[in-house]
This record gives sequence, C-alpha cells and structure tokens, in this order.
Amino acid sequence: MLINYVWRRRLFFLVSLLNSIFVLNAQDTEARINLLLAKMTVDEKIGQLNQLPGDLMTGSEVGKEDLLAQIRSGRVGSVLSHTNFEQKIILQRAAVSESRLGIPLLFGFDVIHGYKTVFPIPLAQAASWDMRAIEEVERIAAREASADGQHWTFSPMVDVSRDPRWGRVMEGAGEDPYLSGKIAEARVRGFQGDDLGQSSTIAACAKHFAGYGFSEAGRDYNTVDMSEQRLREVVLPPFKAAAKVGVATFMNAFNTLNGVPASMNKYLITDILRGEWTWSGLVVSDWNSFGETIVHGAAADDVDAASKCLSAGSDMDMAGGTFQRGLKKALEGKRISMQQLDEAVRRVLRLKYSLGLFDNPFLYLDGERRLKELSQPVYRETARSIAASSMVLLKNQGKILPIRPAAGLKKKIAIVGPMADSKTNKDYMSFWTLGLGMQYYDSTQVVTPAEGLKPVLENMGYEVLVRPVCTAGDCDEKSYAMMIETAREADIIIACVGERGLDCGESKSVASLDLPRNQEGLLRLLGRFGKPVVMVLFNSRPMTFEWASENIPAILVAWQPGFETGNALADVLTGRVNPSGKLPMTFPRKVGQVPIYYNHLRTGRPQASFGMPFTSGYLDVSATPAYPFGHGLSYTEFQYSDITITKPTLEKGESLAASISVTNIGDRIGSEVIQCYTQDLTAEVARPVKELKRFLKITLNPGETKKIQLKISQEDLSYWDNELRFRVDPGKFKLFIGGSSEAVKEADFEVKSIKK
Ligand code: NOJ
Repeated sequence: MLINYVWRRRLFFLVSLLNSIFVLNAQDTEARINLLLAKMTVDEKIGQLNQLPGDLMTGSEVGKEDLLAQIRSGRVGSVLSHTNFEQKIILQRAAVSESRLGIPLLFGFDVIHGYKTVFPIPLAQAASWDMRAIEEVERIAAREASADGQHWTFSPMVDVSRDPRWGRVMEGAGEDPYLSGKIAEARVRGFQGDDLGQSSTIAACAKHFAGYGFSEAGRDYNTVDMSEQRLREVVLPPFKAAAKVGVATFMNAFNTLNGVPASMNKYLITDILRGEWTWSGLVVSDWNSFGETIVHGAAADDVDAASKCLSAGSDMDMAGGTFQRGLKKALEGKRISMQQLDEAVRRVLRLKYSLGLFDNPFLYLDGERRLKELSQPVYRETARSIAASSMVLLKNQGKILPIRPAAGLKKKIAIVGPMADSKTNKDYMSFWTLGLGMQYYDSTQVVTPAEGLKPVLENMGYEVLVRPVCTAGDCDEKSYAMMIETAREADIIIACVGERGLDCGESKSVASLDLPRNQEGLLRLLGRFGKPVVMVLFNSRPMTFEWASENIPAILVAWQPGFETGNALADVLTGRVNPSGKLPMTFPRKVGQVPIYYNHLRTGRPQASFGMPFTSGYLDVSATPAYPFGHGLSYTEFQYSDITITKPTLEKGESLAASISVTNIGDRIGSEVIQCYTQDLTAEVARPVKELKRFLKITLNPGETKKIQLKISQEDLSYWDNELRFRVDPGKFKLFIGGSSEAVKEADFEVKSIKK
C-alpha cells in the first residue's frame, strides 16, 4: 500500500513536471509567434498565407510568378509541388537569409501513394483492410518525402464516395465512413508519427473538406447537395477521425455544398471543424478554390472572395493569388479584421514551429540523409506485400487458381492483353506519383505482370508466352488475330486488362464503367477456346464487366498496384500469398445503378427478386450489385459459428458484447477480414439496411479456430435525427458478422433505454 502511494506521488510529480515543461514550451512558442507577428507588416502577413506552385503545375492554369523574387520580398509562406532538391535549398535560403524577417518556407506536396517508392493506389490499400500495413506505407512515404525536403503532404484524401464514375475514388478508402475513418487515422499516424518535429515525419492534410465525393453525376468539381444527416453520418466521420488523431491541416474542397463553396463555408470550417470538433490547425484552400468562388458566382471579385474565405475560417491560399490581390483591400475596407488576419498567420507560423523549421530551416534539406533514405530496397518489400494483400479475388470457379506446377508435359501459359507488359502512361500507377516527376518516369522501376510472372511460372515448369496486344489504342483486327493464335497454342491464359495509369485521379471522370478500348471483345474471343482464362483487372475504380463475370472462370481485381505489380501478382496467382483483399466499394452490374452502395436506407418497396412489379428495381438489370462491399475470396475457406450475445437487452448506457468463432476449414493458411454490421430496425427515421461497426483481419492456419469478441457501445448505435440530435432509439436491432456485407451470421438484440 505504502509503496504504491509513494510511487503514485512520484508519478504524479513527474507528470506535473512534464506538463509544466510542455505548457512552458507551448507558451514559449506562442510568445515567439506574437513577437514575430508584432514585427510583420500587413503585406508580410498576407505573404505567409500565400502558397505558390514550384516546378510542377498540378492544377488548372494560374499565373506563374517569379518565385524567387516573391520569396525575397516576403510574399510567400509556402511552396507546393516542388521536386528539385537543390532548388529547394536555394528557395529556403532566399526565405531565411534574403527576406526581411527570415521566416522559413513550408514545402507542400501530394504524397498520395508513395513518394519515390510507389505503393498501390489508396483505394487498393483500403482493400487490404490492414491498418498496420497502411500506417507503415505512410511511414515510408514520410521518410522519403521528408528526406527530399517536403514538410507537408496533401494527404490523406478521406472523401467517402459512392460513385465510381468519379475519377478520384482511387485516392480515398471507398464508400464506408467507418472504414474510411479508421484508414484516415492510420494514414495520419503514419505521416505524422508522434512528433512532427522529427525530421522523418511530415504534416498531413485531411482533404477535401467537404462533400467532394458526392459531386453530381460523378463529374469532378460538380455541385454537391445533400441532407444534413448524410453530411454528418457519411461524409464527416473520416474527417472527424483525422481531426481527433491530430491531423495538422485540412484542405477545402472545390465543390459547393448546398450552394455554398466549401472554401467560404463558415458552417463547415468555423462551426463544425473549429467549433464542434475544437480542432485548431491550418486550413489550406484547394488549387485556386478561393478564386473559383467567383466562378461559382458566390463572390463578386478578389476582395469579396478573399474576405469571405478568410472570414469562413480558411487560412492559406493555394496557387490562386486571391489573398495577394484581395486581402489587403478587404482589411482596408473593414471586411475582415486585423485579428482575423493574425489568427490565420498564427496558424501558419505554428505549423512551421511544430515542424522545427524556425530552429533549423534546413532540417529536411540534408543531402546526405537524402542519399541514404530514398528508394531503399527494403521499402519495396512493403510495397510488394501490401500490393498482394490488397488484391481481391472476385471469382474462382472450379478453383482454377492458384496456378499449380505444370505436371509432366510442358504446358504453355500466355500472358496477354494491353496491361500485360506496359512501360508507358504510368500504367499500374496513377498521375499521383508526382515524386517521380509529372508524366515521365523511370519505367525500369516498375515490375510489369509479364516481368514478375514469367520467371516464376518458368520455374514451375511452364513455357510462358507474352502477348501485350492493343497497347497503343483500341483493340483492332491485328490484335484479335494474334489472340486467336495465342489462345489456340496456350493451355492457360492470363488476360491483363483494365485502365491506364494516367486515366485515373483528378479530372478523370467517366460516363461508362465498361472495360475501355474494346477490351471486352478481347475477352470474348479468348473465352471461345474453352481454355482456362484468368482475368486480371487493373483499375482505379469499380468497373462493370457483366459478360466476363458470367463467362470467365477466375477474376482478380489487382487495382493499380504500383512498382511491385508483377511480383505481387505472381505471389497471388501462384498461391505464395493467399488473397485476402475485400472490396471497399460496391461493384455495380451496370453504370446506371450508380450510386449503388451497401449501407443504403430501406425503401418502402424493397425488391426481393428481379422483375417483381411495383418494387424498387429496374426493368433491364437486377437491383443487386455485381460484387458487394466487403466481398473477396480466398484459396481457403472460413466457417463462422453462430453469434453469441452475452446480454441481448441493453439497459441505459450498456454496451453490446458479442462473440463468434471463425475456423479455417481449408487446407492452406489464410487471412480473413471479419466484418461486423448492425441494423436499427425501429428508429424514429429510416436507417440503413446495414452499417459497418467493427472489423478485424486475422490469419488462421488450416484447421485453426479463433474466437472473436467485440463490443459495440450505444454511441456506436446512435444517429443524427431530423433536429440534429445525436441519439439512439430504444427498440430492436440486428447484428451481422461475416466475411462480406452479404454473407453473414445474424443475431437480434434490443436497446431498452436511451443513454443520456
Ligand atoms: C488539386 C487537388 O484537388 C488536390 O487534392 C491537390 O492536393 C492539389 N491540386 C495540389 O496538387
């Protein structure tokens, strides 16, 4: 007892000491910021809010300034998208030694799926449902980016989206707010670590705030109009999750939300983000999004736009120069106050302090460290393993996969299609690999499917034929003729089809989700020969391929897997790695079903089967998806026991405790993503048919069983009602646990009274 007491006192003393040091430090920083602010002219203050493009233009046309001259005159606080390392030193030196106050620059960059080492696109990573792996990816990306002089990444993109026509679904985590929130947390932790002042961590940015994933018709930059409930329950949770784990910055979205451009949306930025969530970081515009408030017709001119955006709570102007042109006049005309301006400048300076830039402006510009840190071979191992664990096996009829060693007679495998062996167009990657440069990159870095598969398959006793057809444009007669010849010759065909790397990302919306450039024709032709065909899809979004789903026995979604494409593909196709990816977004049968998502509200006329009249469906296609959210097969099989609920009636404030056992009943080791959903059956408003509440990825040996226990609180079961109260209604609920949003075990429980 006594010892305990003494230790408790000592601990208390230590914590108080640490607290006072921390508070003193924080006070110290604030005091330094105030001193600096007192010395700054209005122009210098506005300069800190100005972010100018470096050597890459990653957005629409904007005027190109003389960067160095602007920096010297104190008119630039931050530079984005600058690749050249030596020039970054020159720019930083100009800021520190040649501008009047010597305030260091902040370098921002889009580090979206790796910096020098390219990982799978974010949507693919989400399909791994592996938070530790995702955090590790961002840790590596932060190490490389920081060693190359970047302080700040414009990532994670946490926009939930239900529309695969929108090209930017590739940058997010798919359609579910809970999964997106968990991934947002992992990414922020990966980038920022637990100390931003370390030279190997960088500031993260939750973007695009908010609603961007709901642009009408899936057309980039288009209007967003939605209910408050949808905003709060679907769009905001991942942002809130990022804010909670301390993301350093937020970025505005391009779109209007219920008529108000996001960059001047006071409700979003000041009331919710800074008010309700008490988040105190820096908000940066998107590329010229302050200026675009004028194009939206919501601001008259630069002065109006600048004053509306700053007053709403936005701080820094990316690329557009609207603050430079309009903010001083807004101040003179009393449209904004000096206090508002100072607050925004403080946020910029605070970020620079927390990154350690005032103590050492060249902390991230160490040439020796750069040489050691970039593109370490060990990083490629992470790239390979996450690429493999993000691949999703949609179909494996007759268990034709994994490919087994060729027994006896020499057999032939053909690797065909436009994506078989490509070295152009940033294939297997995306536009968002800016750390490699804009359009051109060292193509020797990527391992193509043919390069990865050929040696492995040869080792297994196959003769390998590589036939990369239709590489330049549409599939034509010549490519079809070559396919006929190859299909006759081969015993197994691996058809690599899908989207080009540069066809995904910003401003890459599509109106058709079918395989582009006549690639379905290619598959139909291959299917005619009665040989086993494996379709490998390279994609940045859910796509539609109804014919292939019905006629091709094995389909693997590989996404855009990054540098280690071919090696990861070989791992999965030959069974060295057992596939474990699960779809983070629903795959529709036809584009006309979009938006199609698993957590939709109940309708008054649900359709039990295709064609039932007077129910919610279509004449020409079933209302069900081609492949549901959470779906993904393995080479082994998992069996779920029934669900046990300890106490099925919850009193006020009690959490639900449930358990289930999962057994690997197949003959090889495998990983399974156990997904847990609930449904509120009797609320005051209509609630979704299912909502993901928990998930867990586990690995089981053949014959092994694991018992999973989970808790769901009444807060987890709550929702925003029509008067914007967050509440749980007493009544009946369902709990579902399984390996996809459809294949699940069910149990009932009830909430007796409301938690106050
Ligand atoms: C516009 C994009 O919307 C945003 O995500 C990106 O960070 C900026 N351009 C900078 O490249």
